[in-house]
Amino acid sequence: MTQDELKKLVAQAALNYVEEGSILGVGTGSTVDFFIDALKASGKNVPACVSSSVRSTKKLQALGYKVLDLNEVDEISVYVDGADEINPSFDMIKGGGGALTREKIVASVSKKFVCIADASKKVDVLGRFALPVEVIPMAVRAVAGKLRALGGDPVERDFTTDNGNRILDVRGLQIVDPKAMEATVNAIAGVVTVGLFAQRGADVLLLGTPEGVKTFIR
Ligand code: 5RP
Repeated sequence: MTQDELKKLVAQAALNYVEEGSILGVGTGSTVDFFIDALKASGKNVPACVSSSVRSTKKLQALGYKVLDLNEVDEISVYVDGADEINPSFDMIKGGGGALTREKIVASVSKKFVCIADASKKVDVLGRFALPVEVIPMAVRAVAGKLRALGGDPVERDFTTDNGNRILDVRGLQIVDPKAMEATVNAIAGVVTVGLFAQRGADVLLLGTPEGVKTFIR
C-alpha cells in the first residue's frame, strides 16, 4: 500500500470518533485533508469546526463547513490531527506543515486528541524528523544559537507561518525526555512554540499499516 492509501485508511477510521452535534477540532496536513474529505462524504452532522490553519479553514469552508474562531468556543470534544512522529508514550513531533502553534492551542482545549498517522510516523525515540520551532522573525539568529547550544542543528525554513513568524527545523536532537525538551525550548526568548507535543500528547493513535488500522489508546 502507498503512504497515501495508509493515510486514507486512518482518515476513514477517525470518523468513528467524531461526535455528531459537537464542535470538531480539525488539524492540518495531508492526512487531515483526507479526513476532511472523508467527513464530508460521511454526511455526519458537524455543526461547526475549529481549525488549526488557514489551509484547513479554506478546505472546510469550500466544503460548506462553518469554521469558528477559537475565541467563540469554550471547549472542543474531539480534535483530529496528524503527526510527523509519535512515540510509545503518545508524545509527538508536529509542525511539518508549519501549523504547530495553532495546533497546540486547539489541542489544549480539546478533551480528546485523536492522532491519525501512517506507520512510518511511529518511532521509539523522537528526533529523526527535524524538530520544528516557530520563532518571532527578529529572534531567528538568537534562537538558532540557543538551539545549537542544546546540541541541535537548526535550519531556517523558507516559510512564513499563519501567525507571521518563521520556522527553524532542528536536526540532531535525541529527544529522550520530550516533556523536559518541550519546556526547555519553549523557555527560549523569541520562541513562540516548539513542535513537541508532550505536555499535551495524543489520547488515541490510529495507525495505518498494510495490515489495516491499528488503534492505540492511552
Ligand atoms: C502540520 C502537522 C501535520 O500534522 C504533520 O506534519 C503531518 O502531516 P501529514 O499528514 O501531511 O503527513 O503537524 O503542522
